[in-house]
Amino acid sequence: MIPVRNKSEIEKMRRAGKALVEVFKVVEPLIRPGISTLEINAEIEKKILSLGATAPCKGYHGYPAAACISIDDVVVHGIPSLRTLVEGEIVSVDIVLKLDGYHADATRTYPVGKISPAKQRLIDVTRRCFYNGVEKIRAGARLGDLQHAIQMTAELAGYGVVRAMTGHGIGREMHEEPTIENYGRPGTGPILREGMCLAVEPMIAMGGWEVSIDKRDGWTCRTLDGLPAAHYENTVLVTAKGAEILTE
Ligand code: MF3
Ligand code: CO
Repeated sequence: MIPVRNKSEIEKMRRAGKALVEVFKVVEPLIRPGISTLEINAEIEKKILSLGATAPCKGYHGYPAAACISIDDVVVHGIPSLRTLVEGEIVSVDIVLKLDGYHADATRTYPVGKISPAKQRLIDVTRRCFYNGVEKIRAGARLGDLQHAIQMTAELAGYGVVRAMTGHGIGREMHEEPTIENYGRPGTGPILREGMCLAVEPMIAMGGWEVSIDKRDGWTCRTLDGLPAAHYENTVLVTAKGAEILTE
């Protein structure tokens, strides 16, 4: 069962989304060569708490930090550390917050200083994957419509769609039904209804889609071929006419 939110729940989802936008306003100016991902994480956590929200990633299945910060070939779930950003890298910052019982989840991939045109194109196409997918959302559409649009956008650009990680429903829990793969067939999957809330999050690799999880930390997800990956995510509300993006 995919939860459908009532008016007051939707208001709470909107407030959580707006709070997360405030957190990203703190993140953007921090992204520069020399800063450690631990420092970025500390500022994120501080801002979340100052908004009266909590950071549910911390402690989630033992995850140690408020945010996931993933550099270059790390697709998702990079654990903040003393590692500092280096000019030319791309870094994705994935943040979930919980406010008044409801969750918001979003990710941005940033360039560190000057980056190659190839990496910039990867960031741009990943963002386009999100928007082309979300354009398919409205009450009555099928989940596969959205998934297919994401896949086509990535693959026509020559990129790999990471299969092992997915988007998800979101609301009272960080992860709810449905699972949202970034590939699929139009006209398949559950029918979207007004009031459903979805975290749509294409994770797109410059090369192949195969990934591995770091054996030592159990989290860090890297591309197998070592090529960079980008990630773009927003929490969206399904409406009669389309999608309302709650985190931008
Ligand atoms: N933000 C991630 C998602 O989209 C969740 C991160 S896993 C955690 O589902 F351990 F950090 F919580
Ligand atoms: Co998510």
